[in-house]
Amino acid sequence: MSSLLVDNIGELVTNAAGEDPLGIRRDAAVLVEEGRVAWVGPSRYAPAADRRVDAGGAAVLPGFVDSHAHLVFAGDRAAEFAARMAGEPYTGGGIRTTVGATRAATDAELRATVRRLHGEALRQGTTTIEIKSGYGLTVADEARSLRIAAETSTETTFLGAHVVPAEYADRPDDYVGLVCGPMLAAAAPHAKWIDVFCERGAFDVDHARAILACGQAAGLGVRLHANQLGPGPGVQLGVELGAASVDHCTHLSDADVAALADTAQRDGSGTRTVATLLPGAEFSTRSPYPDARRLLDAGVTVALATDCNPGSSYTSSMPFCVALAVREMRMTPAEAVWAATAGGARALRRDDIGVLTPGARADLVVLDAPSYLHLAYRPGVPLIRQVIRNGVTP
Ligand code: NIG
Ligand code: FE
Repeated sequence: MSSLLVDNIGELVTNAAGEDPLGIRRDAAVLVEEGRVAWVGPSRYAPAADRRVDAGGAAVLPGFVDSHAHLVFAGDRAAEFAARMAGEPYTGGGIRTTVGATRAATDAELRATVRRLHGEALRQGTTTIEIKSGYGLTVADEARSLRIAAETSTETTFLGAHVVPAEYADRPDDYVGLVCGPMLAAAAPHAKWIDVFCERGAFDVDHARAILACGQAAGLGVRLHANQLGPGPGVQLGVELGAASVDHCTHLSDADVAALADTAQRDGSGTRTVATLLPGAEFSTRSPYPDARRLLDAGVTVALATDCNPGSSYTSSMPFCVALAVREMRMTPAEAVWAATAGGARALRRDDIGVLTPGARADLVVLDAPSYLHLAYRPGVPLIRQVIRNGVTP
């Protein structure tokens, strides 16, 4: 049995439950066996192992869990971004541009994009990434998007209900029928989750409910894009259906916040609906950020993710999202790091990632810094010195 010891860790973020929200240990070591954390303790008592990584007094944390990303697409929308920075609003209308480019792309081109973005994310400390379809919007293009996504991640999400494609513009009910029927049948074997963009201009609450119910009946877990561009019923629909996560949460009513808080209090993490905040989208669309403090103060479980996509948030960087959350959303650095690791794991209903406790998957990030605080304190600086995923250096 091959073992690995990461020792001489100045500050270890474990996210273990306890008084300190990040479960911090000083002068610590982590023993990894068979891809799992086997032991955590003081560095001076560390057992011997086959291989050793000397952290040199630096900080180590669980790999980031990016629970919301759209990596299967072709082309980019840099010109749309430039127009926004010159004052154009973001409406989601550009999604159809990416749909056209994605349909025209070969499998090899799509695969290369997923691998490139996954590589970028990994180098920035992301060890788990959720990948959505949603730029194919035909039976064949959604199925191949998910097939390609599944080559890289087990956290795959069917987003056939991203927007109504142009050819169905006059008959959205027919498109919903397609999504619930043949598209779901072709997508479900490659997907773990189903998602809907529930928003004015995309899918209304009745269509969203119907599509998510079909997905649930096919064995998929529910998550959804909700309340991004304006207030609406999406968050409460998510709570009603027991969604693992409602994502964006930029425009919330008091009732939305209360409904989310209620799921956290009932707990049993099987029923909790996480609010996943995507500050890269507000950065890149120059929109007001979600009110993270309001959610946290109400007791809602908050996750942070990149929303990596070519339209509203073309970043694969979880450290960037942590820095934005602290500077722009008034999360403490500790809250932001928790939300980017353990919070993401909750949003995917996983208890084997986002923590560094015995039995967890050995996904570790060694920083080029003495503390997790530096992720927000030194924005834009490449602070990820080494990534260990499943106990190995990728
Ligand atoms: O999460 N909101 C819908 N979907 C993406 C944006 C997709 C796009 O603009 O291409 C999002 O922001
Ligand atoms: Fe998204």
